[in-house]
Amino acid sequence: MGLDAIAVPTASELLARMAGRRVVVVGDVMIDEWIWGKVSRISPEAPVPVVSVTSHSFTLGGAGNVANNLRALGATVAFVGAIGQDAEGERARALFAEIGVDTQGIIVLGDRPTTRKTRVVAHNQQVVRADWESTAPLSTADRATAVARVVDAVADADAVVLSDYGKGFLSREIVEAALGCPLVIADPKPENVAIFAGVNCVAPNVSEAARATGIAIVDGASLELAGRTLLNRLGCRDVIITRGEAGMSLFGRDGERADIPSVARSVFDVSGAGDTVVAVLTLALAARMPIETAMQLANFAAGAVVEKLGTATASPAEIIALLEDDGNRT
Ligand SMILES: Nc1ncnc2c1ncn2[C@@H]1O[C@H](COP(=O)(O)OP(=O)(O)OP(=O)(O)O)[C@@H](O)[C@H]1O
Ligand SMILES: [Mg+2]
Repeated sequence: MGLDAIAVPTASELLARMAGRRVVVVGDVMIDEWIWGKVSRISPEAPVPVVSVTSHSFTLGGAGNVANNLRALGATVAFVGAIGQDAEGERARALFAEIGVDTQGIIVLGDRPTTRKTRVVAHNQQVVRADWESTAPLSTADRATAVARVVDAVADADAVVLSDYGKGFLSREIVEAALGCPLVIADPKPENVAIFAGVNCVAPNVSEAARATGIAIVDGASLELAGRTLLNRLGCRDVIITRGEAGMSLFGRDGERADIPSVARSVFDVSGAGDTVVAVLTLALAARMPIETAMQLANFAAGAVVEKLGTATASPAEIIALLEDDGNRT
């Protein structure tokens, strides 16, 4: 079953209603470091290419990318998460400040590095990736501090996004603190899915939903079973399973059920599309739209993002443009 298309004027109105909502993002922030260059020879030191660097940049990844997507839609955003006591931690703080995200909820941990993924890309092809990270759970004292930051941050928020990248920040205590907010959306990692019991909506991708439930998703019936299993196990209002090129599917507590196809016209870079989906779902639900409408908007926003190389955010204008174009095609 599909859903009725959203008319363009309605969409602009809906997007305007989403701007200005106050959202707290809680989760694993990371720095994506990009080293771009050209290869013209093999190293004399080892059988590897020598990349001659032409440009070097840093972007916010993981939960930081969710914050970035929320800002692109005009939300007021506060971030709660952990960084290390290092230069990359300061860089994360500065990148958040640049996009106008409140960083008072960030805690600095002496026992781990700021998560960083360094990619070396030559001729548009990734040559190697290096990760700095610790996935150990936080110490008891740090967990207490983190919980206090969440309690403070959610006090005047319309919604909370829990963005789990499996780096150890999110725990059941943090989720319970977040549940002080009336609207909580989670993008879970399968190993940790149980900690998200009681949130309003979870939005895993297919492989995460399969691993979280132990159900191999191979057809409509197994997809349905996995969706319903998550719904029952977590006691949430809605489960949305994102399915990459196949779009996304909704399973609601009162039997709501919908499948919508993806809408991208050309696909350049699918990374981060899941972050866009949770950001839009959150703002749409915070603006009290029906889940089916929220899902439609999220799907168009994700479509706009996968059409772009690099920056993984969608502006209201880009979402509207894709909606208009989709209307003209059908
Ligand atoms: N190849 C694609 N073609 C068209 N749309 C896509 C494609 N991949 C993703 N999308 C859009 O993005 C949404 C989310 O994608 P996906 O299910 O891959 O999330 P994800 O795996 O969590 O992404 P990521 O972890 O990279 O952020 C999809 O529901 C769809 O709307
Ligand atoms: Mg994802």
